[in-house]
Amino acid sequence: DKAGHKHFMAKEIAEQPGVIGAALDHYLTDAGIAMPGLDFAECDRLVMVACGTASYACMVAKYWFEQLAGLPVDVDIASEFRYREPPLSPGSWSVFVSQSGETADTLAALRYTRDRVAKVVSVVNVATSSIARESDVALPILAGVEVSVASTKGFTCQLTVLALMALKAAVDRGRMDAGQLAAHLGHLRSLPGLMNHALLLSNDVARIAADLAEAQDILFLGRGPMYPLALEGALKLKEISYIHAEGYASGELKHGPIALIDQHVPVVVLAPRDALYEKTVSNMQEVMARHGKVLLISDAEGVEEAGGGVWRSLTLPRIEPWLAPVLYALPAQMLAYHTAIAKGTDVDQPRNLAKSVTVE
Ligand code: F6R
Repeated sequence: DKAGHKHFMAKEIAEQPGVIGAALDHYLTDAGIAMPGLDFAECDRLVMVACGTASYACMVAKYWFEQLAGLPVDVDIASEFRYREPPLSPGSWSVFVSQSGETADTLAALRYTRDRVAKVVSVVNVATSSIARESDVALPILAGVEVSVASTKGFTCQLTVLALMALKAAVDRGRMDAGQLAAHLGHLRSLPGLMNHALLLSNDVARIAADLAEAQDILFLGRGPMYPLALEGALKLKEISYIHAEGYASGELKHGPIALIDQHVPVVVLAPRDALYEKTVSNMQEVMARHGKVLLISDAEGVEEAGGGVWRSLTLPRIEPWLAPVLYALPAQMLAYHTAIAKGTDVDQPRNLAKSVTVE
């Protein structure tokens, strides 16, 4: 049931404020963040493993665990991790993020870590899945059934649960006092409202997408926790619109990809007004100097400060910088969705893809 939407993907994008609010209600109790079995004081390193979109959620979370909790994190894609057979230290925990909980490479990676780490943790949507069952602790993301092949609410619910884990790690490791925790939880609580604002951009996004649909190649740029979001924006766009897209860390631009830029290449710049904003804007100016068409996604202050010269912009509400990837995921998803609509591709069932990849 698409609940009045044309596609499951549109329905699932629109559901995000609701499911994220519900996930927060589930994990936040009077006693704090309820995650029984997870005392991060016992853990000295996280090894996070996943595939595709779920691996980008892990990459965002790496910034959070490191910056909020001072906890070292390795992130790997499952198909590389499992065959590389990396050495693991016994004080580590492994963390597997999977919407379906059945992805073959992620499950094999989990089994590899089983007797090599102190704890196996999973962050899953399907609570009865193989990955959930084989973990010591399985944290549900509570996104509800996700039908569209392209993961949308799965991604933002993964991020929400990972953000809560990072806050818990910060408290358990003595890096955050009660007042700081309350402030951070307040920011998380503001997410559903901010997401509702982002969803109102749908018509603006559709107009931009009509032009993007003409492009052969599109680049996405971001810094810090917005770098994995650039990868996610590019993946989402290519999988449903079939336009070639790549995500790069903004600072890598001049190390190669800038050679691609000319007046035909749209460049989506994901730049909330954070500590790295100025750096990203200077990369954006390098793109504009080569006649690249910049679509800037920022907040009102960020769009204003960037000045004229950008091709298009989308203005999101201001958000605490560490949570920006969760909010900025929505315009990235909406861009992919509306570009696919403009191209007439099969949004919910893109060619060559399966919802759950249970073969290697
Ligand atoms: C992209 C997408 C895929 C999945 C990947 C992992 O939109 O949905 O990249 O994220 O196949 O799937 P799960 O999370 O089920 O392990």
